[in-house]
Formats: sequence, structure tokens, C-alpha cells
Amino acid sequence: MEREICSIVSNDRVAKDIYKLVINSKSIIKEASAGQFLHIKPSLNYDPLLRRPISICKADSVKGHIMLLYRVCGKGTRLFGGLGQGDCLDIIGPLGKGFPILKDKKAAVIGGGIGIAPLLELCQNLNSPDIYMGFRDEVYFVDEFIKHSGAFFLYTEDGSRGSKGYPIEALARNISSYEVVYACGPKMMLSKVKELCEANSVECYLSMEERMGCGVGACLVCACESSEENYYKKVCVDGPVFNSREVKF
Ligand code: FES
Repeated sequence: MEREICSIVSNDRVAKDIYKLVINSKSIIKEASAGQFLHIKPSLNYDPLLRRPISICKADSVKGHIMLLYRVCGKGTRLFGGLGQGDCLDIIGPLGKGFPILKDKKAAVIGGGIGIAPLLELCQNLNSPDIYMGFRDEVYFVDEFIKHSGAFFLYTEDGSRGSKGYPIEALARNISSYEVVYACGPKMMLSKVKELCEANSVECYLSMEERMGCGVGACLVCACESSEENYYKKVCVDGPVFNSREVKF
């Protein structure tokens, strides 16, 4: 884990309230892997005080660029949205445990909404996984994923792009084709993916999203229920990626 002041290469809106942020990094990028996150201060002063956790979407070690995809949903992320090229961010990272890269296994990757963010670096590192993606209405970033996919399944809730419904429906039809499933998205989706994979004895890794304070295991803000009785896991240090059998919804 490093602390680094990173300058912004670009910060572009890609959909309603969704931005793609690219930063320069010399030290954090050396350790960054798929599924880990950065803890970022929205300003270089003390307002707001807390950092915001944002998943690593893609790490380009040749250019020294880390790409992040984030949704503007509160004061901190609104501040990110107002930043531009040359502005600097105070960043701690990379943090947490990422996805195990099981290249030799037939893999499916499923993402919903902004939960697609940590899956791009993963898909680049796997062997053309089949990708299942769902959005409420506006679709973003799918071309980036299609480049790295075997089959690609796109769903929207309103049917405006791809099929109408949810990507779990297609994954459920095809589950017997896979040896491992990776997922990130809304809790309801993760819970269904866990149930589906466990019922079919398919290995499954879930990237969990929780509110965070410290990001380093000290404050317990990010605790989630473990599958062990009366035991909690810290999403920031035990995750954010968990084997589905480790967590409960
Ligand atoms: Fe503080 Fe996880 S965010 S323990």
C-alpha cells in the first residue's frame, strides 16, 4: 500500500452521473490488480474529511495510467466530478483483496450498473470470458468489455438496449457451461449469483460494495455478515472480493 499524490489525465462524463477518471501513478500502479480499490480524498484540504473508495477499472503499467469509473452520488463524488486535467488527488492504495485470476477455467463474468467497474481489468486478464451485463436504462462502457469477451449478453431493465430483464436470467440458463463465475453489482444480484453457483457447484467470487471509513481495517464501518455464525468480515481488508461461500446476504 502506498500514499501518492496523483495528477489527473482526464475526467470525462460517460453517462448520466457516471464519470471515467484517468490518473497518473508511479508507485500505486506497480501493485494494482483486478478487484482492488483506491481510497481517494476528494480534495487536498480537510473538507470532506473521509476518503472515498473507488475500484480500479483498468491499470496501464506502460503508460502509468490508472482508470477509474465512478458514479456521482454524494458530496465527495460531486467534488471528483468537478475536477479536470492537471488537478491532483491524494490517494492511498491499492487496497483490499482482488479477484483470483483462474485463466485455465471456463469463466463467466456478470456485472450490474456501476458494478461493472472492477470487472474490466479482470476480463482483460482472463481467457475471453463470457460476459453478462445489466443496466437500468443508459448503457455505458460495453465496447470496452466486448473486446475481451467470448459471448456477450446485454440486458436493460427497460429493454432499450439488448434484452429486457436482468443478466442473471441468461447466466442461469448457461450456468452448467462454467467452472467459475465472477460478479460485481447490486446486492440483490450478488445474492442470486451466489445461490445459482452454489446450487450448481460452480466456484464463485463476489466483489462486495459497502460504505467505508478508514479503508484499512480499523473502523468496522464496512463489516458484512460472514457465513460463519456470529462472525463479520471487513470488506476493506478481507475483501472486497470474497469466495461466495465466505459471505451471507
Ligand atoms: Fe474501516 Fe473497513 S473501512 S474497517
